[in-house]
Amino acid sequence: MHKDSIVVNKLKDTPFGASIQLPSYCNNDPAYLNDEDFQTLKEAVETNLVVIIPDQAKLLPKSQYILTKRFDPSIPEPKETNGGANYGHGKEFRHDKSVLKKDGCSVKTQPQVQILGQGKFEADEEGNENGEAINLTHPSHTTFHHTPLTEKQIKDNKQTRFYRWHIDSALYELSPPMVTTLLGIKVPPTTQYQTIKYEDDGSELKLTQGATCFISGAQAFQGLSEEDKQFALNTTVEYAPHPYIFISPAGATWDGLTMVSEGKEMDFNDLPDWEESKVKKLPMVWTNPTTKEHHLQVHGCCLYKLHTKGGKTLDLKESREKVHQLMRPAISPEKVLAHSWKQGDLVLFFNRGVWHSVTGEFKGLGNDGQDERRLMHQCNIASGVDPVTVF
Ligand SMILES: [Fe+2]
Repeated sequence: MHKDSIVVNKLKDTPFGASIQLPSYCNNDPAYLNDEDFQTLKEAVETNLVVIIPDQAKLLPKSQYILTKRFDPSIPEPKETNGGANYGHGKEFRHDKSVLKKDGCSVKTQPQVQILGQGKFEADEEGNENGEAINLTHPSHTTFHHTPLTEKQIKDNKQTRFYRWHIDSALYELSPPMVTTLLGIKVPPTTQYQTIKYEDDGSELKLTQGATCFISGAQAFQGLSEEDKQFALNTTVEYAPHPYIFISPAGATWDGLTMVSEGKEMDFNDLPDWEESKVKKLPMVWTNPTTKEHHLQVHGCCLYKLHTKGGKTLDLKESREKVHQLMRPAISPEKVLAHSWKQGDLVLFFNRGVWHSVTGEFKGLGNDGQDERRLMHQCNIASGVDPVTVF
């Protein structure tokens, strides 16, 4: 039974996360929450970091946009000409060389909402908001990792990998979004399991096919040694210009935390036009506005250099190694919240407080691939302000 105000329930047997029951007055549309209930939701998202609202398969892109935008009053007011505020990624998002170029397409009527998934959806199919057939490809680590799993490991042993641990952000010019909302409109049944084998210590994580994984940046920070906490608190991360294009010729480490350093990155002169003033330099630790906890927040694949307050600069290879050392302990199996998708799940996550990763291998198109189709809507909006460490 639905109550008259929002109800927050912590998830059971997970390292963090909560689910939400909407009040009856908003007619199952979270865009209609009153101010008091929205404030409860906002605090729940910033405290629990990942919040699930079930039964949202029919949520309209406009409602998803309104809900997402409401979390961040610093978002600049939309100009009428472009139909709304900026999606979390800039215009280079679909650049031919970007590692993100195949990650979906925009909803035409609400361009801040992206369509992600796997498989072909006909123009008139329920849930397809674009009015034309769309063909989606689930991101597979096989095209991004330096040394992917073999076909045998994927097909026979049912193994997968963390595709790329990340924070949703352009990491050039625009500020990282506060909150991302991810809606599972059509998802395959969660009867198939896949396993991530940790190649350094032999541990394993079993998850349902296509689970989205989350790590608490606060738990990651708490797990650091005192020395590393001080290092993190006093270090700035410089990201490469157009980082998703810069890294495109390189391959990621087996754990999806960073890139293998072989000097393959693009020469800055070969990148699309860029300006020094738009290069992102963000603190390594972002303080949570509600809990006041410190979160270790680094995009390990896109970083370029680390600068310490003591005046030391680590180069690309050293920076990746240092960040990997800081981040690796946080992704051990018991610290991962692996969200197993049910149709209609709307997952809201505090993008400035978690790292997340796609997992899972889906069969390609074909007669036997029909049950593995997936359709999702994702929304996040570039913030008006950068994250900060509050000492
Ligand atoms: Fe993401």
